[in-house]
Amino acid sequence: MTTYDLALIGFGGVNRSLAELIAARGEALRAEVGFGLRVVAITDLRLGSLVDAGGIDLSMALALGGDGETFARHGGSAEPDNEGVIRNCPADIICEATFTNPEDGEPAVSHVRWALESGKSVCTTNKGPVALRGRELAALAERQGVRFEFEGAVMSGTPVIRLAKQMFGGLQLNGFEGIMNGTSNYVLGRMEAGLELGEAVREAQELGYAEANPAADLEGFDVQLKVLILANELLGGNLQLTDVHREGISALTPEDIRAAASAGRRWKLIGSARRTPDGGIVAGVAPRAVEVEHSLAGISGATNAVSFDTDLLGPVTVSGPGAGRIETAYALLSDIVAIHKMAEGLAHV
Ligand SMILES: NC(=O)c1ccc[n+]([C@@H]2O[C@H](COP(=O)([O-])OP(=O)(O)OC[C@H]3O[C@@H](n4cnc5c(N)ncnc54)[C@H](OP(=O)(O)O)[C@@H]3O)[C@@H](O)[C@H]2O)c1
Repeated sequence: MTTYDLALIGFGGVNRSLAELIAARGEALRAEVGFGLRVVAITDLRLGSLVDAGGIDLSMALALGGDGETFARHGGSAEPDNEGVIRNCPADIICEATFTNPEDGEPAVSHVRWALESGKSVCTTNKGPVALRGRELAALAERQGVRFEFEGAVMSGTPVIRLAKQMFGGLQLNGFEGIMNGTSNYVLGRMEAGLELGEAVREAQELGYAEANPAADLEGFDVQLKVLILANELLGGNLQLTDVHREGISALTPEDIRAAASAGRRWKLIGSARRTPDGGIVAGVAPRAVEVEHSLAGISGATNAVSFDTDLLGPVTVSGPGAGRIETAYALLSDIVAIHKMAEGLAHV
């Protein structure tokens, strides 16, 4: 039976959860998915780097870090040698889950490029490389005969990208609209319950939904990247970030919320893209007061949803978690399953 050797780049919430999943369910997983997984390299800003072609002891790696300990004490180095590890380690697949800089997608863009250049497939949960350099990296993967997978970049493990690409064969996809940021959706829901914006944001921060600086969520930057990814991946666009109009929810007042409610509407931060009759695509993110019958009106709290507009089925809506370390680790696993199916000739996309 095939065993895939993995390198984990970044060892925070998502890749730790993937390691926990492999450690806890390795054998069961082998029976379920038809292949084994072994982690042969880990590199992380704080923990440094470790490569072991025989397989890293995951219980050791998962226990590391509390007291400033690094991989140096376990035969590795205290400094992360990302390029050296990615290019030279014996992994088949690089699982990239570091930080994404929304300006240029770094350092993740370089991580993905080094991996593809050295003939390794990549799965990433980072929006940056996909949104900002997706076309270039996909072309590099194609030239190298390897895979570049990124299901977790939109709605964590909830299948959106691959589902639309694989399940909608024979359907025309005219566009999509969705709630793709759980924090802003949670805040809007709490404003409906009577809280001011600031109070709702503080509550979201206390619950761990919102970052200390919530601008990426509230001002629509996060959704803008996700709309860019879906528009380019699913509608065949070649949009740049500036082509995606962006407006957040911070200007909405309690009065706006009340007026919508009395008109039978609910405010939602909607990311959308649509084909135009001239063959173009219009894409954007903005708050919209949708009617309560709208397919996205009932999506509450931190849940996300995307409604696809298809020619033969009309709207098809997928909803599920949009974040979470385990949910996003599952996205990496689903990418690995997809890579396996491609290798076995069981899938086309
Ligand atoms: N968690 C989610 O719900 C979720 C959902 C969808 C997508 N994502 C995306 O998935 C990625 C990982 O998320 P996460 O929740 O695991 O984040 P995280 O907990 O912050 O983990 C990222 C890890 O990567 C390390 N790192 C940062 N820059 C690095 C570099 N240049 N080289 C090596 N290691 C580096 C960080 O080290 P330090 O801690 O020392 O900085 C940290 O250990 C992010 O891009 C995130 O946007 C996450």
